[in-house]
Amino acid sequence: MRTNELYASPPVRKFLGPALRPGGERLTRLMLELAGPLQGALALDAGCGCGASLALLREHGARAVGLDLNASFLREAGDVDARVAQADLADLPLPDACLDLVLCECVWNLTDKERVLTEFRRVLRPGGTLALADIYARGCRSGDWPVRCCFAQATDLQTVMEQVAGAGFEIDVVEEHTELLKKTAADFVFRHGSLHGFWQAVTGDPVLAQMACDASRASKPGLFLLIGHARKIT
Ligand SMILES: C[S@@+](CC[C@H](N)C(=O)[O-])C[C@H]1O[C@@H](n2cnc3c(N)ncnc32)[C@H](O)[C@@H]1O
Repeated sequence: MRTNELYASPPVRKFLGPALRPGGERLTRLMLELAGPLQGALALDAGCGCGASLALLREHGARAVGLDLNASFLREAGDVDARVAQADLADLPLPDACLDLVLCECVWNLTDKERVLTEFRRVLRPGGTLALADIYARGCRSGDWPVRCCFAQATDLQTVMEQVAGAGFEIDVVEEHTELLKKTAADFVFRHGSLHGFWQAVTGDPVLAQMACDASRASKPGLFLLIGHARKIT
């Protein structure tokens, strides 16, 4: 049976390996640099997937914890020297104000976004850092996607910033890294002959593949990173 999750589909897994996102290590390293010194910091990789960023957090001296819904990804993440557990980001099994950093890469758009931001704010200590990377829509909103993917709930960047600020964060940095998404898309096109060929390999259906191409044309996906810190509650 085919998966209905883009990031778990064989064409994506085969090409991206353990980092289940566009931008790979390069974007993560940039985010960790922007997040500041991490030696000894307690960090959550929210939606850690197969654990690629847990290893980078450890490399930066952080004590890393990974949470994800997908049990088979977590088994792969178990090879990294970090604690991982199955959990929904909308209901974090963590006490209030216990973390220095929440890293969340290409996951937020898959979730109940406002609830998850409220949970991130709750578990971060005041002044703690949120490092968020995801897809945003440069064209019209979202569109109909045939699989579960980070494109589906993408909004424009202004809406992202309003939601993050509204959840109790000061925004320090917003950068756009669409060139990394374009590079990943170009690699897929190269391997599958066309964008339609890629989506056909993912969905196994030419009609669904066309639906994805149309949604992509309408929403013009971009890639952003955002660094913020939890406002002190007065
Ligand atoms: C595109 S992958 C990114 C994984 C990882 N952050 C990375 O960059 O390699 C999205 C991940 O989000 C997880 N996920 C989706 N919704 C979730 C939720 N509500 N709670 C926890 N994890 C979730 C999926 O299981 C998947 O591992």
